[in-house]
Amino acid sequence: MAVFETNNRAETVALGQRLAVRLTPGSLVSFTGGLGAGKTAFTEGIAKGLGCTDPVSSPTFAIVNYYRGPRPLAHFDLYRISTEEDLNAAGFYDFLDQGAIVVTEWSENFAHLLALEHPITVAIERTGENSRRITIEGVDL
Ligand SMILES: Nc1ncnc2c1ncn2[C@@H]1O[C@H](COP(=O)(O)OP(=O)(O)OP(=O)(O)O)[C@@H](O)[C@H]1O
Ligand SMILES: [Mg+2]
Repeated sequence: MAVFETNNRAETVALGQRLAVRLTPGSLVSFTGGLGAGKTAFTEGIAKGLGCTDPVSSPTFAIVNYYRGPRPLAHFDLYRISTEEDLNAAGFYDFLDQGAIVVTEWSENFAHLLALEHPITVAIERTGENSRRITIEGVDL
């Protein structure tokens, strides 16, 4: 387990970039942390670090965004879904099987199912207006 403190959005993006180096096809990164914690910011860093060329945006309504690149990334927001059927229908298992790197915002909604996929977990806590405590488990950084 590693704990980091970031003091602005750019530092969180940079930490995402640093994690990207450690990801391999089929890796799952599951985020917890409430509204505005910085999950999408961290994902922007991962996408950048993977060399993805598509811009990162919140997939709240789409459920999943796919970013093309040498190491493609599928970015899920599980806020609006709640069943295994929904997760499957959104293509979650297909992306993992295809060797995409997958990240999930709002993993709280699927803690048990995601645990079966041996995720790297990233928990983001808001400690102030611009400060965040970020706890990463399941990988050496
Ligand atoms: N240290 C920090 N790290 C990340 N974001 C920060 C930080 N300090 C301030 N912010 C701000 O917090 C917000 C984080 O937004 P972001 O969309 O990344 O959160 P989120 O966890 O994805 O939220 P949601 O649950 O709505 O999807 C942005 O407005 C960003 O500028
Ligand atoms: Mg988000």
